[in-house]
Amino acid sequence: MNLGVIGCNTMGLMHCQMAENAGLKVVACGDISRDNARKAARKFGAEAVGDCVALCNRDDVDVVAVCTPTPTHTEYIQAAAGAGKHVFCEKPLGRTLETIDEALAAVERAGVKLYVGHVVRFFQEFEAMKARIDAGKIGNVGFVKTYRGGIFPGGKLGWFSDWNMSGGVTLDTIVHDMDWLRYVFGDPERIFAQNLKRVFSERIDYALVTMRMKCGTICNIVGTWAHPSGFRVKVDICGERGMVTFDSSEAPVSAQLRLGAGSGPSTIVPASPVLVSPYQLEWEDFAGWLAGTRKPRVTPEDGRWAVRMALAALESAETGQPVEFN
Ligand SMILES: NC(=O)c1ccc[n+]([C@@H]2O[C@H](COP(=O)([O-])OP(=O)(O)OC[C@H]3O[C@@H](n4cnc5c(N)ncnc54)[C@H](O)[C@@H]3O)[C@@H](O)[C@H]2O)c1
Repeated sequence: MNLGVIGCNTMGLMHCQMAENAGLKVVACGDISRDNARKAARKFGAEAVGDCVALCNRDDVDVVAVCTPTPTHTEYIQAAAGAGKHVFCEKPLGRTLETIDEALAAVERAGVKLYVGHVVRFFQEFEAMKARIDAGKIGNVGFVKTYRGGIFPGGKLGWFSDWNMSGGVTLDTIVHDMDWLRYVFGDPERIFAQNLKRVFSERIDYALVTMRMKCGTICNIVGTWAHPSGFRVKVDICGERGMVTFDSSEAPVSAQLRLGAGSGPSTIVPASPVLVSPYQLEWEDFAGWLAGTRKPRVTPEDGRWAVRMALAALESAETGQPVEFN
């Protein structure tokens, strides 16, 4: 199958490679930045395209990958679905539930498949933790604590620091953990959150979200874009018979200095030392769904739920009140 990619920087370039590893062929690279489109097209032997809606309408494109800043996801999903193309969309699925519902309706009308890039479901460490819980190794789980984050993303491309675009660390980064926790423990009952929105202009964000799941498990989720450098993921899962823990960077105590605004990486892409990247595994899952040989690990409804939880956390941080789910 042939792929057209929209948004050809950090994630777009990565997805070009991962999709090719999974057997697709990149034929068109679209971006509002001509330079980025050209660079990606050169690398993958594809055509550079300035008009990303036209990219969706090309006869030689079967699947469209949307790797642009978050608020633009749903308009491109609609354009691709309207042209009868299957879609891979980076998380979060959209910036608002209203635009997500319009996009899901377009996907439904067109009868195409939409895959959302909740890649943490494919990280081998997270799969291993889920397998231990599902196998009952630690018994019923009472409490989970997750931590994800590090340096403020931004580099030369400043859209992460625009709250209205990225939704800060809550919608952009710990949406991964909220999705994974719902994948493992089922739907949430209530969310309460606090964050550092008031100092967001200082390029710092830190969020603490507490979710009570319908099954009774309590989850504490920390997301940070407030650390001087690096990126780290930690998980503690406490069950009646034991604990499962994971720390992406067991290391001695170290002192690090904060970098100046605008320096550092453009975005946070979690690393995995395994042979097959989890980003490739998600493309293999999507390709299997397209071929009719697999059910997708991530459904469009999962993508919507993840945004719903993250937006509820942002609302709770704003009002100081918990948000209940029916
Ligand atoms: N799954 C993950 O691990 C992970 C990690 C980082 C980012 N993301 C998500 O991936 C998406 C892209 O993030 P990124 O880090 O690659 O961003 P980026 O800023 O590095 O790249 C975005 C690209 O989109 C282009 N672009 C911007 N607006 C556009 C528009 N309207 N039409 C076409 N092109 C446009 C930019 O020129 C740029 O080339 C975001 O939604 C982000 O949340 C996911």
